[in-house]
Amino acid sequence: MAGVRVAVVTGGNKGLGLAIVRALCKQFQGDVYLTARNPKLGEEAVKSLNKEGLSPLFHQLDINDLTSIWVLRDFLKKKYGGLDVLVNNAGIAFKAADTTPFGTQAEVILKTNFFGTRDVCNELLPLIRPNEWSMCPVFSATHPFQSAAPNFRRNSAATRSQRTSW
Ligand SMILES: NC(=O)c1ccc[n+]([C@@H]2O[C@H](COP(=O)([O-])OP(=O)(O)OC[C@H]3O[C@@H](n4cnc5c(N)ncnc54)[C@H](OP(=O)(O)O)[C@@H]3O)[C@@H](O)[C@H]2O)c1
Repeated sequence: MAGVRVAVVTGGNKGLGLAIVRALCKQFQGDVYLTARNPKLGEEAVKSLNKEGLSPLFHQLDINDLTSIWVLRDFLKKKYGGLDVLVNNAGIAFKAADTTPFGTQAEVILKTNFFGTRDVCNELLPLIRPNEWSMCPVFSATHPFQSAAPNFRRNSAATRSQRTSW
């Protein structure tokens, strides 16, 4: 599918991720992938957007599972030859009232929000095509994380100058 642009949203089955998929379906000119770690929840979310007249596609992605990331990476490479938009939305948080010990909370949060997101970036950012959008809301555009993904730095500059040119 050379020439078709493609966007991927992690943790797209609910919350902000679902809202971002909805917005991309309305504004992005290309295929939009709602990804979720649980295929059932992901497919249900796709159906809910179908009822709104939107047509996201689904792909499974658990950001804590390297094999799952590799499967998505290989799929994107084979089908699209790259990636145009990556929204690193998947993440977890404990409620303020949660009594889980702080150390355990920190371990669980770091596993997904830091290491999982790092693994997604390491595997998918190299696919990002130049001069297109890439989004990493979990950390800022100046975060040293970018050193693991040379394309991201270039795309960050493009992002700032092309906000209205999807
Ligand atoms: N809402 C806020 O006020 C706020 C503030 C600051 C930052 N954030 C960040 O913004 C993001 C979205 O927030 P939200 O309020 O929409 O959260 P949410 O409703 O809890 O949704 C989080 C999404 O991430 C998914 N997820 C969790 N672990 C995953 C994994 N290992 N692999 C793939 N997906 C995974 C969840 O899937 P399941 O449904 O399977 O659990 C869910 O789809 C999160 O990263 C959050 O930390 C939110």
